Amino acid sequence: MKQSSEPTSPSSARFFVLDGVDGCGKSTQARRLVAHLEGLGRRVEHLREPGGTTEGELLRELLLDRDSDLSPGVEALLFCAARRQLLEKRIGPCLEAGVDVVCERFHPSTFAYQVFAWGLPEDELLKMLHTWAGSPEPHLTMILELPVSLAVERRGAATDRFEDRGAEFQERVALGMKRYVELCPRTTVGVDADGDEDQVAARVAQAVQNVF
Ligand code: TYD
Repeated sequence: MKQSSEPTSPSSARFFVLDGVDGCGKSTQARRLVAHLEGLGRRVEHLREPGGTTEGELLRELLLDRDSDLSPGVEALLFCAARRQLLEKRIGPCLEAGVDVVCERFHPSTFAYQVFAWGLPEDELLKMLHTWAGSPEPHLTMILELPVSLAVERRGAATDRFEDRGAEFQERVALGMKRYVELCPRTTVGVDADGDEDQVAARVAQAVQNVF
């Protein structure tokens, strides 16, 4: 997938993505990264996918609801729609206003869950993301890498349609995440998430430092 290391806005604001399997520590590390960036004197918005807009949060409810009967294709389209809404309504305006964005989940999740784990066609899905949710592009995407057994332990009991799919599905998701790093090596890095919160936060901060 096309990802550029060029700034996506005229301002010096930066767009960071944290992704990985359920339970890898994204939310904790996103909060830590926000605090780290604010400590550097930067203004930061913390967003999550799907969500972050009124319409995106409604799509999130629908997507995660155990009563929703959605095929993988419909899922992919709704994730893409929620992402475009977030890009247009929140991420673009933030970057233009000089505000950094830290976003939990982005293209790697669609690639890992819908393409790799569900088997939707890779080229079509990547083209769809590029066409409909391709701009602005993240300056750095970090995949928090943690063995699925540890992630499941950290996460606890399953709480949504995706976590219900079990360990085998999550193993495929983890492989998909690794494959995504290989596909987009210029702007995507794997970060070892096996460690305590401070250790992982330091690794994330190190990865981010290379972008400034
Ligand atoms: P998640 O972000 O893990 O929420 P929480 O941390 O509150 O549990 O839940 C989102 C779920 O949606 C997660 O299981 C992964 C899935 N997902 C996809 O399948 N494709 C996508 O493109 C995105 C963004 C998420």
